[in-house]
Amino acid sequence: MIKSSEEIELLRIAGQIVGDTHNYLKQFIKPGITTKELDKLAYDYIISRDATPSFLNYEGYPASICTSVNEEVVHGIPSNRVLQDGDIISIDIGACYKGYHGDSAWSYPVGNISEEKKYLLEHTEQSLYEGLSVIKPGMKIGDIGYAVEKYALDHKLGVVKELVGHGVGKHLHESPDVPNYGKKNTGMTLRKGMVIAVEPMLNLGTADIYILDDDWTIITADDKPSAHFEHTIVVTKDGYEILTKR
Ligand code: MF3
Ligand code: CO
Repeated sequence: MIKSSEEIELLRIAGQIVGDTHNYLKQFIKPGITTKELDKLAYDYIISRDATPSFLNYEGYPASICTSVNEEVVHGIPSNRVLQDGDIISIDIGACYKGYHGDSAWSYPVGNISEEKKYLLEHTEQSLYEGLSVIKPGMKIGDIGYAVEKYALDHKLGVVKELVGHGVGKHLHESPDVPNYGKKNTGMTLRKGMVIAVEPMLNLGTADIYILDDDWTIITADDKPSAHFEHTIVVTKDGYEILTKR
C-alpha cells in the first residue's frame, strides 16, 4: 500500500488530470445540458490529456463518468436526462495515466438551488475536509471516518455506510477501505506514501439507500437529495497532499 516516489509522481499527474477535467466540465453544468453530453465532454478531455477514463468498462460500467442527480447518491449513468434549474449533480471522474489512477467526485448546483440543497452541498464538502484534516502518519483509518461522521451527524445529515472510500494506485479500488464512519484510534495505521480516496456521501434525510434496476444507480430510500465529494490524497511526512486538486 506504500507507493514509491516515482509512483506518486504518476499518481499526481493522473490526479491533476481528474482535477482539470472537473474544472473544464464546470462551465457546462447548466440547465438544458444532458448528462450524456457531459460524459462525452469528459471523455474527449481525458483522452486529450493522454489518459483514459478509469470508469469506462470498469466491471461493465458503460460510461466515462458517473452523473448522480438529486436523490441519486452515486453511480448514476449518463443518459438523455436534461439538467433542470434547481437540480444538484454529483460528477464522479476517474482517469488513468501511465497505469495509475486518480479519482474525484464533486457535487454542483444547476442554476438556482434551494436553501436546503445549498446546506447539503456546503456541509458535505466540509465533511470531506474534516475527514482529511486528521490525516498524517500514525493516525488510523477509523479517525477519518469518525471525523466525517461526527461532522455529518452534528449537521443532521445522513451518512451512507454501504459505500466507502478506498486505496488508489494501479487499480482504481485498492486496500484499504475508508469508511465514512468509525471509532477513533481503530483500523489500519496511516503511513507516509499511502494513497487513498476519501469520499463522504451525505443525505438530507435518511442514510438508507437502494439500488435501481439498472444495477448501478444508488438512490436515497426517502428520495431526498444526496451529495458526494471525493479527493484522492497521498499521506506525507506530516500530513497529506491532495492529488486531485481543482
Ligand atoms: N468513483 C467511484 C468510486 O469512488 C467509482 C465509480 S465505479 C464505476 O469508487 F464503475 F462507476 F466506475
Ligand atoms: Co472513489
